Amino acid sequence: MLSNQASDGKRTSLHGHWSSRMAFILAVTGSAVGLGNIWKFPYIAGQNGGGAFVLVYLICVVVIGMPVMMSEILIGRRGRRNPVATMELLGKEEGSSGKWRWVGSMGVLAGILILSYYSVIAGWTLAYVVKSASGAFAGASAEIVGTHFSSFVGNWKLVALCHTLFMSLTIFVVARGVERGLEQAVRFMVPALLLLMLLLLGYSMSSGYFGHGLRFMFSIPESCMQLTEACPLTWDSVLAALGQAFFTLSIGMGAIMAYGAYLPEETSITGASTAVVTADTSIAMLAGLAIFPLVFANGLEPAAGPGLVFQTLPLAFGQMTGGVFFSTIFFVLLAFAAWTSAIGLMEPAVAWVVEHFNRTRAQGTVIIGGLIWGIGLGSVLSFNVLADTRFFKGTIFDNVDFLTSNIMLPLGGLLITIFAGWVMCRNSTADELGSSGTLYKAWRILARFIAPIGILFVLINAVTSS
Ligand code: PFF
Repeated sequence: MLSNQASDGKRTSLHGHWSSRMAFILAVTGSAVGLGNIWKFPYIAGQNGGGAFVLVYLICVVVIGMPVMMSEILIGRRGRRNPVATMELLGKEEGSSGKWRWVGSMGVLAGILILSYYSVIAGWTLAYVVKSASGAFAGASAEIVGTHFSSFVGNWKLVALCHTLFMSLTIFVVARGVERGLEQAVRFMVPALLLLMLLLLGYSMSSGYFGHGLRFMFSIPESCMQLTEACPLTWDSVLAALGQAFFTLSIGMGAIMAYGAYLPEETSITGASTAVVTADTSIAMLAGLAIFPLVFANGLEPAAGPGLVFQTLPLAFGQMTGGVFFSTIFFVLLAFAAWTSAIGLMEPAVAWVVEHFNRTRAQGTVIIGGLIWGIGLGSVLSFNVLADTRFFKGTIFDNVDFLTSNIMLPLGGLLITIFAGWVMCRNSTADELGSSGTLYKAWRILARFIAPIGILFVLINAVTSS
């Protein structure tokens, strides 16, 4: 086992440090902003009826997501190891038990499972780069764009090829280490993505259906205000909103903990978390505002599912001047965003293999990457050959998604807040967060009471009501 105790008593990370506070914020933002914002948020909001879901999602982000993220970063920075070793180390150090390492282990597993399907969808975006560049969507109707999508996902060999390509790209970056390349990619990608989303928003506003989209996303049905049976928000949708908050912020599985391990001592955890949460939520809202007006303008179904973005955005680009160019750039950026998130998904597992089995980073990455690729084939087939093989929540893809986003991440978040709020002593957390009065107190109330009770309440209600 490697040691990371420096001579002055402070721990240092075995994998290097971020070059600056900005570099850390960019890396965490890069991990947070991804398919979850642009692909997943709109389709889940669509499936769960819009407004009421969006409101619950936003509440979850602020009251649960924010304290969980802060807890993860502070635990990561204090332990400065991979999530499994950090939880074990701090568990003992804080006078509890080394068994807390299981929280880290569950995170490692969640990361592997999420990336297995994430890479498949990221593969779709790669294919859409090529399709866009070839002009396939220029002037295309909703029907043509829809046919493109279904014939593409129906071709399992092609989808498997794209999945393979994306996993190879991810393995390549992760094998090279933390700092090199990653910061540069994010520094350029997030602002560029934001600009293109604004362009899409402009288009959407001119579609004549912007009001429809706005209402769909933000108006709460009367039935929900009066809490009657007719309200479309079920406990399942509340759980989906909670799961989406975890997924989109990359929390609950140790990815942010792993990044926190590389964070310099003097950086403000509250400041960094606020910046990341704001950027991430804005991009998701923009994606929704760009997509829903197009859905209504073209008579599409908001509840169309995972294909929603791939069936609406090409349509918008297809009708714009310069659409071939913008559409290509958009899917390139989306693939980039997925790439920087995939790196975060793999990091806990790789860091664990490297430290636990004394492997080189390259070896660890290839072993874990190969495993993820293999599991991902289940999701590749979920949209074609095995599309009709349904159990529990649906296809293999649906089940892996449900199990990870809606169960493992919230459970991880619950344990992380209990650890930071109840197991770690006040001095340790105050030391990391800076004990400056109100902010620290607010975090402590959220982490000790509101977040854990909120998560438990939703999990219990969702399980017992279905
Ligand atoms: N937050 C990413 C997204 O919204 O696409 C997904 C993700 C990345 C989840 C990294 C978890 C993680 F560790």
